[in-house]
Amino acid sequence: MARINLIVIIIILLCVSFIPSFSQSQQNEQKEDNCEACHRKENPGLYQQWKNSRHGQEDISCVDCHVAEKGDVDAFEHEGELIATLVTPKDCSNCHDEEAEQTMNSYHAHAGEILESADAFLAHVAGGHPAAIAGCENCHGNKVVIDADSPNKLSRKSWPNSGIGRLNPDGSKGACSACHSRHSFSSELARRPENCGKCHLGPDHPQKEIYEESKHGIAYRTYKDDMNMDRNKWVLGNDYYQAPTCATCHMSATLKQKVTHDIGARISWTLRPPVSKYKENWQEKRQNMEDVCLACHQKSFVDGHYYQYDALVNLYNKKFAKPATAIYKMIKAKKLLENPAAFSNELDWLYWELWHHEGRRARMGAAMMAPDYTWWHGIYDVAHNFYFEFLPTAQAVGDQEVKELIKKILADPMHTWLGKNTGDLKKNIRSGQLQEVYKNLFPNPPK
Ligand code: HEC
Ligand code: HEC
Ligand code: HEC
Ligand code: HEC
Ligand code: HEC
Ligand code: HEC
Ligand code: HEC
Ligand code: HEC
Repeated sequence: MARINLIVIIIILLCVSFIPSFSQSQQNEQKEDNCEACHRKENPGLYQQWKNSRHGQEDISCVDCHVAEKGDVDAFEHEGELIATLVTPKDCSNCHDEEAEQTMNSYHAHAGEILESADAFLAHVAGGHPAAIAGCENCHGNKVVIDADSPNKLSRKSWPNSGIGRLNPDGSKGACSACHSRHSFSSELARRPENCGKCHLGPDHPQKEIYEESKHGIAYRTYKDDMNMDRNKWVLGNDYYQAPTCATCHMSATLKQKVTHDIGARISWTLRPPVSKYKENWQEKRQNMEDVCLACHQKSFVDGHYYQYDALVNLYNKKFAKPATAIYKMIKAKKLLENPAAFSNELDWLYWELWHHEGRRARMGAAMMAPDYTWWHGIYDVAHNFYFEFLPTAQAVGDQEVKELIKKILADPMHTWLGKNTGDLKKNIRSGQLQEVYKNLFPNPPK
């Protein structure tokens, strides 16, 4: 009896162990048709990026993002499903509406609207069409063009592209993958300064280089492995303290502020145009940034930083940018240059480099604590260009009214050193007399 029981039990056990393996293989067969299973073979790297991401772990599948609706201009039939290759901020907003809304309201979302700018003119005329596509548009974004004959409905001239202000066929702006590289879509990667450095570098906006040479960048490089950058929440003062990254200052959470995808929310000046201006509600925006600084510094130290930074911006504006702009505008208005097309004259290039390259470097260096950019790559180059290239070229145009304007400008005490001798000027520095000339550039002097 006991023996029969044992045999029955063994038979039952054998059956039980076979049932699941049978149904498993049936499931697997079904899964061969799934996006994931097939693409696991097609693109093992892509699959693993997805599988090991938060999305993969939370079962957010390929179709969840790539699904398209009938009528979408970029939709196409693929293995029995209607999908689109593009996944726009509007698609991500189905699950992340707050991040998408902030991104689309930020300055980043405007970056695709550059076709009318002087930079674009330069690229298309002095450079040429392919340079605009592979250059400008891969940072700024472009208008994604639909090509009905292409298998994925996207024109090759406009895609691949993950520019920050891409103009998508569904009307949304930007590409979340500009910062959250696919298919890992990781916060950790987005928090790293290298991420912003794809676009924020080079002669006209060297924020990455500035950061690297600042004490903040030095501390980051030393301590980055201890900064818990892979945590879900990354709050300054709770999760890390060692150094700020670009994201820390411009986006990430503090004990008082939430994460923001509006990268302009903490900036008071705009440093891009020829002459810098305060932004709307700049005091509030500055307070938001100061709240970040105060996690690691005391108030008087932070105030001191802004005091020095404001003075540098005022110096650049008043001593160089406004005068050069007035002279340049007069010459353009009177049509005094030989060649009519923009950038076909030496003066156009000199003025351009004065504000767009050298002047920006100086202002941004002072904003983010990089003395080498403020001076050697900055005001040093501005001064050399202004006195020894721009002004002589403007003089050489030979117009009387222009010459009078230059004379008037050079009569300002900031410029009258030009006529004096070195010994006297040195005495003026030692006595503090020369510094007096600049005293009005320092705003709200501390009491
Ligand atoms: C049986 C295999 C197979 C299955 C199932 C499959 N794919 Fe693909 N997929 C491919 C291959 C091969 C390509 C490249 C050639 C092509 O476009 O057909 C591709 C291309 C793509 C592309 C890029 C198209 C382009 O050219 O830009 C996307 C996006 C994509 N698949 C997503 C999906 C999604 C989402 C699913 C699930 C609905 C899915 N795939 C199911 C094999 C598969
Ligand atoms: C969280 C959303 C999301 C998920 C989940 C997702 N994708 Fe994507 N995928 C994107 C985005 C964003 C792009 C970039 C398209 C663009 O430029 O807008 C992309 C691009 C692609 C491309 C074309 C680019 C290339 O590198 O070849 C393929 C193919 C693709 N995805 C396949 C897949 C497959 C297969 C899966 C599932 C394993 C998947 N995706 C899951 C968002 C997603
Ligand atoms: C300018 C770069 C940038 C762009 C563009 C960007 N993100 Fe982010 N995102 C970040 C950074 C940095 C973090 C990490 C913030 C933190 O926790 O420190 C983040 C975090 C997130 C998180 C995690 C939750 C959170 O708030 O920490 C989600 C979800 C997210 N982003 C979604 C999106 C979506 C959706 C888009 C497109 C609409 C997008 N992001 C575009 C930089 C960016
Ligand atoms: C390496 C990436 C990159 C490339 C290439 C690039 N830009 Fe930019 N551009 C930027 C960044 C980043 C800014 C913002 C700098 C800042 O805010 O300090 C910017 C700023 C601008 C601005 C100023 C926007 C404003 O509202 O003040 C214009 C216009 C512009 N770029 C046009 C162009 C054109 C046209 C080209 C090609 C000739 C080009 N850019 C090439 C990254 C790039
Ligand atoms: C179907 C819903 C869904 C869609 C669509 C979706 N996500 Fe997510 N996403 C999630 C969930 C769920 C999580 C994990 C929980 C959380 O952090 O909210 C997540 C997490 C994230 C994170 C945090 C990852 C980390 O490392 O902490 C980022 C960044 C992110 N998503 C970006 C995107 C982007 C960009 C898109 C569009 C290309 C997108 N998501 C589309 C549901 C979605
Ligand atoms: C794919 C390119 C790209 C990436 C990546 C990128 N940016 Fe930008 N950023 C731009 C461009 C282009 C502009 C200028 C926008 C315009 O011309 O309208 C800009 C502008 C800005 C501004 C000025 C905003 C304002 O209101 O004046 C800040 C701050 C900024 N970015 C910070 C960041 C940070 C921080 C990161 C990384 C977390 C980052 N960006 C990643 C391209 C990029
Ligand atoms: C210690 C904090 C801090 C760090 C780290 C930092 N920034 Fe800034 N950033 C600032 C401050 C402060 C300003 C000036 C704000 C103002 O004018 O009120 C600024 C200004 C800017 C601007 C505006 C320039 C314009 O044209 O108006 C951009 C763009 C920018 N930062 C990008 C970056 C990038 C990219 C990184 C990393 C490579 C970075 N920042 C690192 C604090 C920081
Ligand atoms: C996560 C902490 C942290 C944050 C946030 C932070 N800093 Fe710093 N800062 C440091 C450290 C560490 C140093 C190096 C200290 C030293 O020089 O002894 C430093 C140095 C400085 C210096 C001295 C630079 C030099 O070359 O001597 C200035 C100025 C400064 N920070 C201003 C700011 C401002 C303004 C903010 C906000 C926009 C800010 N910091 C945000 C940690 C931080």
